[in-house]
Amino acid sequence: MTAILGGPAAALGPRSIERVTGADRPATVPTVTIAYEWRGEFDNAELNALHAEAFETRVYDESESDWTTLVHRHSLGWVVARADGKLVGFVNVPWDGLVHAWIQDTMVSGASRHQGIATRLVEIARQGARDAGCEWLHVDFDEHLRSFYIDACGFTPVSAGLIALQEDEAAPGV
Ligand SMILES: CC(C)(COP(=O)(O)OP(=O)(O)OC[C@H]1O[C@@H](n2cnc3c(N)ncnc32)[C@H](O)[C@@H]1OP(=O)(O)O)[C@@H](O)C(=O)NCCC(=O)NCCS
Repeated sequence: MTAILGGPAAALGPRSIERVTGADRPATVPTVTIAYEWRGEFDNAELNALHAEAFETRVYDESESDWTTLVHRHSLGWVVARADGKLVGFVNVPWDGLVHAWIQDTMVSGASRHQGIATRLVEIARQGARDAGCEWLHVDFDEHLRSFYIDACGFTPVSAGLIALQEDEAAPGV
């Protein structure tokens, strides 16, 4: 495995690039180069296509889902994974500007799953948040993903809460 630090300095820490090649994998796994990059470049069309595949939605266009603007405004960072240049994985890391960061929208293309790509995306996000001085990394997830986030990624199970605001009829009037 080769880790390369470099690229133009981003507003919140440097981009970092890592390449994992077939040489690092067991001989039975076909050789593929996965390049991981903290705060790596992407365009809205490729991320909207990946999002649609991962979350089984229609493909949003840029006017509906402008990821590049969103992450630059609201995120500490994000991680992109590319296989021979093609975007195959992404995770967003929004934060509170201080000590809390969140894992959001972890996604890997169908053909690239179960190769450890999402686990590595989260590891790099974790490193990026720690390097930025964050103290806590949060995630919430559906029960079927417990083995991924708890067992593979190493999150500690905690109690958490969630309100679906657009379906919230119990909110007090203003
Ligand atoms: C969830 C997701 C990101 C996992 O990507 P991935 O690259 O296949 O994950 P990894 O290869 O790193 O998985 C490591 C381990 O986590 C567990 N795991 C991964 N995906 C899982 C899933 N969908 N359900 C249950 N366990 C899962 C498995 O134990 C897996 O090991 P295995 O491959 O030996 O079975 C991918 O399936 C995806 O994009 N799903 C659709 C979008 C989604 O639901 N995202 C999560 C939002 S909270």
